[in-house]
Amino acid sequence: MKGSASAPGKAILLGEHAVVYDKPAIAIPLSQLRAMVDFHQTERTFTICAADLKRPPWQWDDSAADSADPLASMAALTLRHLGVCAPTGKITIRSAIPIASGLGSGAAVSAALGRGIAGLYGETIANATLNALVYEVEKLHHGTPSGIDNTTVVFEQPVYFQRGQPIHTIKPSRRLDFLLADSGVSALTRESVTAVRQLLREEPARTNTLLDQIASAVASAQACLAAGKLLQLGELMTANHGHLRGLGVSSPRLDALVSAALQAGALGAKLSGGGRGGNIIALVEPSTRLAVERTLQSAGAKRVLTASLGG
Ligand code: MEV
Repeated sequence: MKGSASAPGKAILLGEHAVVYDKPAIAIPLSQLRAMVDFHQTERTFTICAADLKRPPWQWDDSAADSADPLASMAALTLRHLGVCAPTGKITIRSAIPIASGLGSGAAVSAALGRGIAGLYGETIANATLNALVYEVEKLHHGTPSGIDNTTVVFEQPVYFQRGQPIHTIKPSRRLDFLLADSGVSALTRESVTAVRQLLREEPARTNTLLDQIASAVASAQACLAAGKLLQLGELMTANHGHLRGLGVSSPRLDALVSAALQAGALGAKLSGGGRGGNIIALVEPSTRLAVERTLQSAGAKRVLTASLGG
């Protein structure tokens, strides 16, 4: 058996951090930015190669099943799900998704790996099951993940997500164009989530107000997406950046990229993901896209990606 499998990255449009506290959030898949696996059956061993993740080739043995390592743990969960205990095969993971930059690299690698291991056995794993397996691994990456990353990545649909609620996919009534600008600073989501939790302990009233304001921006944004109100959607994104600054998860670099995007004509801009580094996302019109892209590059963005929805 040989073949390939993949999963996309993701970007959060609005609602990160508040979603950890059971508020809603909106996220989109980044289908052009993917984690991919090639797999083929071998005679004896089971090897996972992931040079893009800066890891040496890694060979399965029984102790790997109890490992806290995300790749080993995804492999173990998948093998358990398939009811296989002595796998043979080689899996090569390649990922175009930058690590620790808010674009869902961890969830995408796990999802692609799960699909690849199932592929070795000629099986496919239903998305709902794969989502649950990837969520288990997300707990190793993030500590207390909301589940929005794995859901967006596994189902590869724009989602309005709230923990514990059925998944709502979103169909925008108009085409939406985004730019994602990388600050070039890597930051661990686990750390920014921990910092917000600490803030909630130290300043509960102010922090809860910010989380409520984020939830209300997300609800309004969902209505704007349905009605195709892009100007208002942009304003809500920029307001959401202000809330995230209030939570202490922005950085001077992210703020500078957001300001640059807005000055160059973006309809709205905000950090996306855990923050403190990683990417900003800007909503742009076709007429201003190029100007915003160039301005972001001049403002120091390490890489600018385009993404679109609908239309
Ligand atoms: C990370 O992509 C989004 C956060 O809200 C964390 C989470 O939802 O698990 C910061």
